[in-house]
Amino acid sequence: MPDHAPKGLTRLAFGGDYNPEQWPESDWQDDVRLMREAGVTMVSVGIFSWALLEPAPGAHDFGWLDRLLGLLHENGIRADLGTPTVAPPAWFYRAHPDALPVTADGVRYEFGSRGAICHSNPAYREAAADITTRLATRYADHPALALWHVHNEYGVPVSACYCDGCAAHFRRWLETTYETVDAVNEAWGAAFWGQRYGSLDEINPPRTTPTVGNPAQALDYRRFADATMRENFVRERDILHRLAPGIPVTTNFMTALSQCDSVDYWAWGREVDLVSNDHYLITDGRRTHVNLAMAADLTRSVAGGAPWLLMEHAAGGVNWQPRNPAKAPGEMARNSLSHVARGSDGAMFFQWRQSRRGAEKFHSAMLPHAGTESRLWREVVQLGADIESLTPVRDTRTVADAAVLWDWHSWWAQALEWRPSEDHDARERADSFYEALYDRHLTVDFAHPEDDLSAYPLVVVPALYLATEAAARNLREYVENGGTLVVSYFSGIVDEHDAVHPGPYPGALRDVLGLTVEEFSPLLAGETVRITGPDGARLTGDVWTEIVVPRGAETVWTYEDGLAAGRPAVTRHRLGEGTAWYVSTRLGARELDAILGTAGDDAGIAPRAELPRDVEVVRRTGASGNFLFVINHTDADVKVPLESHGTELLTGERAAGRLAVPAGGVRVVNLDA
Ligand code: GAL
Repeated sequence: MPDHAPKGLTRLAFGGDYNPEQWPESDWQDDVRLMREAGVTMVSVGIFSWALLEPAPGAHDFGWLDRLLGLLHENGIRADLGTPTVAPPAWFYRAHPDALPVTADGVRYEFGSRGAICHSNPAYREAAADITTRLATRYADHPALALWHVHNEYGVPVSACYCDGCAAHFRRWLETTYETVDAVNEAWGAAFWGQRYGSLDEINPPRTTPTVGNPAQALDYRRFADATMRENFVRERDILHRLAPGIPVTTNFMTALSQCDSVDYWAWGREVDLVSNDHYLITDGRRTHVNLAMAADLTRSVAGGAPWLLMEHAAGGVNWQPRNPAKAPGEMARNSLSHVARGSDGAMFFQWRQSRRGAEKFHSAMLPHAGTESRLWREVVQLGADIESLTPVRDTRTVADAAVLWDWHSWWAQALEWRPSEDHDARERADSFYEALYDRHLTVDFAHPEDDLSAYPLVVVPALYLATEAAARNLREYVENGGTLVVSYFSGIVDEHDAVHPGPYPGALRDVLGLTVEEFSPLLAGETVRITGPDGARLTGDVWTEIVVPRGAETVWTYEDGLAAGRPAVTRHRLGEGTAWYVSTRLGARELDAILGTAGDDAGIAPRAELPRDVEVVRRTGASGNFLFVINHTDADVKVPLESHGTELLTGERAAGRLAVPAGGVRVVNLDA
């Protein structure tokens, strides 16, 4: 197995966060017995255990962890061992109150929750390195050790600290990045509103100001905060690599959660040995399985297409949303196996046994308060067996049909204040374009705008407001060489410093799109526009319109009303061997289908119309086989045509012709070669 795989794990990972320090040690035997019953192969331990491992400064107690790891090993369960650096003990903060982070308003957080960390704080850095060194030294050769789990979810709950220590650290970062204060003034457009600095010493974090602050400063602070967290991760990782060679290192990401947009996972993906991700359904009325698929696809893309690991999801409801529904029968399995289809080599949960005390006691777990006489437990045991049957998919790769461009820096820039419309939401654009592709049964990779895109017949660009010159060149080359590009409004507007590209909008993408935009005209709340397309077809847009002037592009859809009435709404530009589409108003996923259908034709993508909506079909291939996952999210039985015979892994039955997938069920066919 490659060095990203948890050491010694011969099956897919199945298990969860295990926090046995919450129970009397006499219960542990019961836990591992039930873990074996459920087919658990790996658990994550010690993530929040610093206060137990070091109850007083310099006084360590590893005895309980020795016994726990020993017990897991005796029972054939692998350990994903945490470095507990997300939860320093109370004594640490008493000695170093300045390690508690400060908000932009100047409020210092208190001890008593978790994740209260100023990542610039030297005492924190030293203490984190010390506990990491001790764990690595003690457990490097432990036979249970499979994986290191550094910290927990960098970026939440605190994405940036604004204390004086961070101010000094930020100035050093500016010096390394820009060298001189004049270069900072230039990059930030500090001539505006008299914001010019005479020396780097005058610069502070973007703390609360009377009205809107400098946008380029705010953007750079996000980059700085992200880089600072990453520096701390790398320090721990290097200690672990040095003292425990051969054990892969991960930290759990939250790639697609809008609550955690403070981390540039493209950069983080390059630093970890194994990409792992936490995903929770956002139960806001939208189709949760689409959000899940998107998170999984994004995670795989951050991993460069390699297998990754679903580190956490929920067996049932969570407890931190306004309303937390339980999962319907079969939903947990569909969720887990959709992650596996999309590249995860396993399905792990938060957490193994439901807590009796503390903030998360109403969060579901694999072993619920109801105990083993419960539907949830029976489904966990069944899932364990299913996951075991899927062992052959390990280390194979998911096959994608199209790419969606994704850049955290552009997302950060779009979230800055004083934009043309507060109704424009970069994340919503990505969600809607993704959903439209999902509904066409296309599997999507995400790509950074400067990545090589030549492998994809179709590339979709949802609101890439911030686009560098390099990204613009890349997209142009992609189209010239035969690619099909679909670009949303509010793309190609500013450079990496949030400065508008010179000349008419969309500065960076004028050439490739064959048009200019004379003026934005966002709509008022609730206002809509009609657009007319080929054969008199009609669609409705909202949020945004603009005055598009074709300069080589042809008009495919036209505004019927609004300020832009009679002018182009959707255009197509043939350039070199390829085609670039532009969509100048906000269309929802259903409306986008019409545009993506024609663009898909340009790209030579054959429609998969025979599949019903909400039937997910994904392929993983590799040395061990060619696997077709079919996940039926509907309440009707469906039949899905197979291109060749094969063996269905969950039932062990032979499959040919049309594969029957029961309502709410999952089937995975190992297709014959
Ligand atoms: C995650 C976190 C876990 C647990 C879980 C609950 O974000 O890493 O420790 O809190 O959420 O959903």
